Amino acid sequence: MKIRVLGSGAGGGFPQWNCNCNNCRRIRRKEMNGRARTQSSIAVSTDQANWLLINASPDIRAQLEAFPAIQPKQGVRDTGIRAILLIDSQIDHTTGLLMLREGRPLEIYCTEMVRQDLTTGFPVFNMLAHYCTVNHHPVPTDGGSFTIPGIHDLRFYTQALKSKAPPYSPHRHDPHEGDNIGLIIEQISTGKKLFYSPGLGEIEPHVLEAMLQADCVMVDGTFWTDEEMCTQQISHKKAREIGHLPQSGEGGMIEVLNSVAKARKLLIHINNTNPILDDDSAERKQLDACGIEVAYDGLEIDL
Ligand code: MLT
Ligand code: MN
Ligand code: ZN
Repeated sequence: MKIRVLGSGAGGGFPQWNCNCNNCRRIRRKEMNGRARTQSSIAVSTDQANWLLINASPDIRAQLEAFPAIQPKQGVRDTGIRAILLIDSQIDHTTGLLMLREGRPLEIYCTEMVRQDLTTGFPVFNMLAHYCTVNHHPVPTDGGSFTIPGIHDLRFYTQALKSKAPPYSPHRHDPHEGDNIGLIIEQISTGKKLFYSPGLGEIEPHVLEAMLQADCVMVDGTFWTDEEMCTQQISHKKAREIGHLPQSGEGGMIEVLNSVAKARKLLIHINNTNPILDDDSAERKQLDACGIEVAYDGLEIDL
């Protein structure tokens, strides 16, 4: 399967429009060895003609323009996007749906909880219905599998994650199974598996099991430390409180990834405050030493 990283940044992207943090300031001034990043999303395909879009970022327009394989090929209106899978209803994963309103019917795969958020707190499905057809396809939360018409040779397994619904959700403070899911994508003919989870607050046993089985894991790279946004005086919220396991320290993502020996390991959904955005940083060298890659916009993986 081919995996295209359309965007690799967290909510806000890098640099973020109103941010003057060490990273954002330096990348704007070209004083940093690093890359700008749009908000996270990937696309997968086995034939490079029919693509599944995983999450729809607010930056989708630029992401599609940067990726010829998914662009119109025939007729006056066309796209390589056959379906869209949403892992949650966060703004940085769903706002891009509004940009797809000119299209043919949207085949959207997401949990019932995400569907509820997207018809209430952020009623994007209701809004889109005035422009194009939205066909919702429910997905399992128990690790059950399904296939998607038009997406050849891939099978999907989705499992609930312990996390939170977005701040706008009617049940923000009342977690439900299916607010967030982790995703395993298996190529049926080869058995190769990708585990994709850009927001992971906690490594539950079923998450570790999925990571151990995968040939490639692409997981939450939001923050380096739990206090990152506090020490930079951006927010009082700690990484874990908002559903992101930091990379460093005991029980952090590096430790977890080190225990998943066979897989190719990548971090995605990198927040603009994270020192790993600087290719020359000590933190980045620490990742290099562990064989952990940092995803970037435009990266393609053949699995
Ligand atoms: C998150 O993953 O925590 C979000 O990116 C936050 C946001 O979109 O504001
Ligand atoms: Mn996010
Ligand atoms: Zn910043």
